[in-house]
Parts: sequence; C-alpha cells; structure tokens
Amino acid sequence: MVFRQAKWSEPIIFELSRHNKQGLLVDEEFRGYAEDALREIPKEYLRARDSLKIPNLSEVEVVRHFTRLSQMAYGVDLGPVPLGSCTMKYNPKVCEELANDKRVTDLHPYQDEETVQGILEIIYLLQKWLAELTGADVCTLQPPAGASGEFVGALMIKKYHLDRGEEQRVEMIIPDSAHGSNPASAVMAGFRVVRVPATPEGDTDVNAIKAVVSERTAGIMLTNPSTLGLFESKILEIADIIHDAGGLLYYDGANLNAILGLVRPCDMGFDVVHLNLHKTFAAPHGGGGPGAGVICAKGALKDYIPVPIVDYDGRKYFLRYDVPKSIGRITWFYGNIVPAVKSFIYLASLGPLVREVAEISVLNTNYFMKKVTKLRGVDLIYGRNRWRKHEVVLSFEKLHKETGVTAEDVAKALLDRGFHAPTIYFPLIVPEAHMVELTESETKENIDALINAYAEIVELAYRNPDALKAAPRNTSVTRLNNIFANAPKTVTPSYKFIDRIKELLKA
Ligand SMILES: Cc1ncc(COP(=O)(O)O)c(C=O)c1O
Repeated sequence: MVFRQAKWSEPIIFELSRHNKQGLLVDEEFRGYAEDALREIPKEYLRARDSLKIPNLSEVEVVRHFTRLSQMAYGVDLGPVPLGSCTMKYNPKVCEELANDKRVTDLHPYQDEETVQGILEIIYLLQKWLAELTGADVCTLQPPAGASGEFVGALMIKKYHLDRGEEQRVEMIIPDSAHGSNPASAVMAGFRVVRVPATPEGDTDVNAIKAVVSERTAGIMLTNPSTLGLFESKILEIADIIHDAGGLLYYDGANLNAILGLVRPCDMGFDVVHLNLHKTFAAPHGGGGPGAGVICAKGALKDYIPVPIVDYDGRKYFLRYDVPKSIGRITWFYGNIVPAVKSFIYLASLGPLVREVAEISVLNTNYFMKKVTKLRGVDLIYGRNRWRKHEVVLSFEKLHKETGVTAEDVAKALLDRGFHAPTIYFPLIVPEAHMVELTESETKENIDALINAYAEIVELAYRNPDALKAAPRNTSVTRLNNIFANAPKTVTPSYKFIDRIKELLKA
C-alpha cells in the first residue's frame, strides 16, 4: 500500500521534448485543409515555423507526464490522512458526481425563486436534518467556513446580550485545549478571552470555570468531545454554571464525527452550534473545495440567526428574511451551495446509518490508541485510562527525552512510509504531540499499517536516531526548513529580507 511519490527532480515537459517529435499523425486530407487555411492568413501575422516554443512529445509521453504530476500530491484518495481535528474522511464519489450536475453548477444566484425550487428544497431539508442532528430549532448554511461560523455564533451571543441591556458581558471563557480559531473568533466579535485549564483527566476544569464566571461572562466556547478526543464528563454541570450566570454556550462542532446521531449538542445545554460540512459531512476540504460552517441555534438565539434562511410555506420554498433580531447577512447569497449538495447526498444516502459513522470512527480511534500506546516512548498526557472519541493525542515527549527524536521527526518518517502525517504540536498543552484522527473511512488493515509504521519508526529512534533526522527521503521534496519553506532561493528579494530578519534575530 506504500505510495511512491514522484520526485521534484523528475524532468519537466520541456526537458522531455525532442526536436520534431510528433504527437499525432495528421491525415493528408486534413493537412490540405490546414494549408489552405494558412494561406488565408496575411503573411505579417504568421510566425516563423519554429518560433512557437511548445514541447514536441508523443501522446503517451504527455499522458504519462501529467499523470506523474497528478501523483505528486497526496490526498485521501491515495491513502490515510490522519490529521486530527480535520476529519479527513473519504468523500464519496457519488456526492462529487451529483454535485457536478449542470443543474447545480449552472444555477445563478439571481434566478427567480420559482425556477430554483429543487435546490431550495435541498437546502431546506439539509437545514432540517442538521437541526435535528444538533437538537437545534433553526439552522443556516450561510457561513462559508468553520471559523466564519464561530464568528457568526459569537456575534449572535453579543447581540443577544446587548438587546437585553447587558453591555458589561464582554468575557468569553475558552479552555486552553480549544482550537485556535475559537479565541480568534471571540476577539473578532469584540470579546475578551478568559482561559481555563484542563484537569489531568483531560476535562475542562469546572472549578476554574466557577472561579472566573461573573456578570461579565458572555458565554463559553467548548467543543465536546474536546480537542483531546475526550468527552466532557461534566458538561451538564458546566452548562448550568454558565446559564445560571446569565451566559450562553457555544459549541464548536467542526468535528462532529464522534457523536453523529448519538448525542446532540443542544441536549447538552448548548445554545448555538457550528458544524463544518467540509469535515463531518463529507464535503472535501484542505484544497479540495470550499467549505460551509453551518450555524444551528436553539431557544432565544434562534431569532438572531443570519438571513436569509430557506423556508417552506406548504406550497413553495422561499428565502426568508424576516428573522426578528437577525445579526443580518454575513455572506453573499446563500453561502457555499456545492458542499451543501454533497452533504445532503451524504446524509440522504446514510439515513439512520449515520450513527455508524460515529461508532466506527470511535472504534477506529480506540483500536489505534490501545496498540500504539504500547510502543516504547509513546504516551498520553491527559486521561491516560480513558477511552477516546473521534481522535487521540499522542505525546512523544518521552521518546524525545530518551532519543532526541522529536514529534516532527516521527511525522516526517511517516511520510517516507507512505502516510500523510497527523496534526503535530497541537493542542499546545500536549508536549511533542501527534493528534491522530482516523475517521470511519479507514479499514483495520490501514490502521494496522499505520501502527506498524509507528512501531518501525520508534524502534529506529532507539537504534539509530540520526537516521530519522534526515527524513523524509522518499517524497517529492525532502526535509524542508520549517521557517524558510515558503521562501525558495530563487525569490531573491524575499530571501534577502528573511536573511536580514535572521541577522536581526541573532543580534
Ligand atoms: C475544532 C475546530 N474548530 C474550528 C475549525 C475551523 O474550521 P475552518 O478551517 O473551516 O475555518 C477547525 C478546523 O480545523 C477545527 O478543527
């Protein structure tokens, strides 16, 4: 299953070219037409015969060249992408195929509602299903990304407090294991972030929440299961503390894989939830296509949702703008429709089987965790004796101390063994972290292969650590300098600029 990447040192198409090599045979009759046509072109507009510098190759050489180039990128269609907090699952081809239908791609946002009833029905049903899956009252597909959804949710919380005359609610509580976009979104919405730590068991520290909660609390932003892959065992208590203090609960549901169809965020006490269609709901991401950071809201917050949302009056589907306290419009038109269509097909084809997505991804994570943590030098820092949900964060701190091999070296060595690396050095509270998420897409054979790769690397770390410092060797490009990776030497000005910064840093 190991995938050999094409090397950057492989020739470019001009180097493959040979003078006068012909790619296709032209029939005599056709050649005659072409020559007649040429005679019609005024001489001054004709190029000299060899002035057009296009490569001369046979057809098969062209096909092979571009096929080789297409293989220089690694993606989920080639092998596992165990990036924690990214939910890189397989995106079923049926979703791609149907979403590429002209009836989707050729729609125009200014079309009359009567002529787009089909797509409006799809959006309406998806809104309903996502509201059902989260336990919310309403849902909008507008935000074009997860972080954008967070920002919208934070603005809704802000407007809610302002409408009640509670301008003093300027603090957003966020655990220090949170995804980095949470504090960023809160700050963009005008809040001050109050950090709370995790307990050694990996839960958000309830006593720390009690210590910071006050009449200044606007709310808390949590993800459950947490970024450590652990289900917050005290979530109902946390919800009561925040609500009793007049605050609201925001759920970061970018990664809903662990609880899909099993547990609903709004039943845990959350008031507003964002979902990444481009993670849990099988729309591609990471360069594969635009995302959608759907917002679902419950109770009082349902009146603050951005407009328009798609509604149905029993006869036709329409865009509804009369949401009483809406924060307004946050993107052009209706959001990113193509991922919505893909997610609709994904959910429609799964139906009630959707809970198996959660069950299998949780099983995969725990199978992997149990085996990989038996390896020397591999540890779990938080909640050592707990089961994981959708992901697990490994720590290579011990391996690092004993061999000098870092989490980064291990990740690079995984590339050599045909795997995409997991998320590394995140969350920040876990030293030498590898955050692994396998999703429901990976088979036992693939997970075993990944475990074997880890076992081989760890064994090598103790036997010959230097060998890992040079990894990766088998990829298109070898070890990149993390800081200068984006500044190739050929871009002289920026390289010089970076050299200058380096000097300043040394000084
Ligand atoms: C937990 C979590 N929240 C929010 C986001 C932000 O989503 P997006 O990248 O679509 O803005 C991510 C993305 O990695 C995430 O993992």
